[in-house]
Amino acid sequence: MKSLVLVGFMGAGKSTVGRIVAERRNMAFIDSDAVIEARAGKRISEIFAQDGEPAFRALERAVVIELAKEPDAVIATGGGAFVDPAVREALGRMTVTAYLCAPFDVLWDRIARGTDRPLAAGEDARRRLSALYTSRLASYEQARIVVDATLSPAEAAEELLRKYDECLREQQVK
Ligand code: S3P
Repeated sequence: MKSLVLVGFMGAGKSTVGRIVAERRNMAFIDSDAVIEARAGKRISEIFAQDGEPAFRALERAVVIELAKEPDAVIATGGGAFVDPAVREALGRMTVTAYLCAPFDVLWDRIARGTDRPLAAGEDARRRLSALYTSRLASYEQARIVVDATLSPAEAAEELLRKYDECLREQQVK
């Protein structure tokens, strides 16, 4: 069965909702950021600080395209992964993609409560991230499924499962 891949901006709940979906369906849950950290042997924030964002993006591209080949998994990606055209192409072909969608203000509230996100650090983070969010929307909207990420994680998981099943049924009919 094609894996389900969650995309969307930081704070959308990709990992939280992904874990619930995986548990409900007895599927493996994979967090691409965790795989990147294991492979690099350091935290994402350290990769950004020591090697730079382009090095992180290259590693992210390689890891996510490799993970796309895994069947029967729920995969949460980092917020920038689906912006890369090669990643979008691979995920679109090999998986069912789902965009967890919420207005920027909702996401910012969640991001501001978290730590360890290099892009959210430093001066003027709200303004920078708001512009980044806007620039990424057209990429996220290319996902196969869209789920309302302002719902509670349990409700979003429910909606996601319903749409994923619908999608798998359509593919069987084809
Ligand atoms: C990023 C999002 C992060 C992580 C990295 C870059 C982004 O993942 O991959 O800090 O470019 O949006 P989450 O979306 O899980 O926070």
